[in-house]
Amino acid sequence: MASKDFGMIAPDYDFFVSHSSEAEQDLRAFSPELTHLGPPDRPLRVLDFGCGTGGFTEQVLKLLSWPPELLEVSLVEPVPDQLQHAASRLALLTTQPIGTFSTLPDKFDRPFDLIVAHHVLYYMEDLSQTLRQLKRALAPTGLMLLTMASWQNFLMRLWQIGYAALKRPVPHHAAEEVAAALKQAGIEYRETRVPYEICFPDSAENRRKILRFLFGDLLPEIGEQNLLGEFARYVNSGQIQIATECQHLVLKGI
Ligand SMILES: C[S@@+](CC[C@H](N)C(=O)[O-])C[C@H]1O[C@@H](n2cnc3c(N)ncnc32)[C@H](O)[C@@H]1O
Repeated sequence: MASKDFGMIAPDYDFFVSHSSEAEQDLRAFSPELTHLGPPDRPLRVLDFGCGTGGFTEQVLKLLSWPPELLEVSLVEPVPDQLQHAASRLALLTTQPIGTFSTLPDKFDRPFDLIVAHHVLYYMEDLSQTLRQLKRALAPTGLMLLTMASWQNFLMRLWQIGYAALKRPVPHHAAEEVAAALKQAGIEYRETRVPYEICFPDSAENRRKILRFLFGDLLPEIGEQNLLGEFARYVNSGQIQIATECQHLVLKGI
């Protein structure tokens, strides 16, 4: 399994984030789940696994509106600049010190009430082990929100096409593998499908930004021509408009 350096592709990932409704739809779908945490009248411990620059979790925490003095946040992110950016951004929402980790610690001193892994588990070296670690870190009354695209997702199909050109298996996981690993570990979860759209002005450079987000420095080796052509069927009045979806896997501690 290959991990992926999001530091290198940050501008291309930002392009994807700002031209897709993924985060907005994920947030909308998570909103009713958050009621599981009850009224904001007790300390709440939150872990953002693979936080990036923390933009998604910032929106989750704003939606939660937990009193800043009762909110404790821990972040795991391997790209140091992004971890720092996330910690500064989320420091505005809590008066407690923020825990920052470059890798998922084996053990935390206390369990978490909310764990978010928003489009992160694709990149795990050992998916089953990571899921077991995350489940161990969840409080008995806690809530874990995992988002992942399935192999039906347009971007995942691009991964399949690109890696097939290199005659290599895709070195990343999809929602299907997460579901299978949870089942195998006997961890109960609920899965829902969340549609979203990717929409941007059509140009070779914009298509290329999505490809760089997906393949990073492997793109020249794969060759971009076929992959650029995969967008053609989605052209509509000078825009690329792709209706696709991702999966939400929701785990409760009890
Ligand atoms: C698609 S981004 C999502 C970022 C953030 N969760 C969000 O929704 O904006 C995937 C993130 O996972 C991080 N990541 C990659 N491998 C990781 C690992 N082994 N442990 C934790 N995070 C990892 C990347 O650095 C990147 O920030």
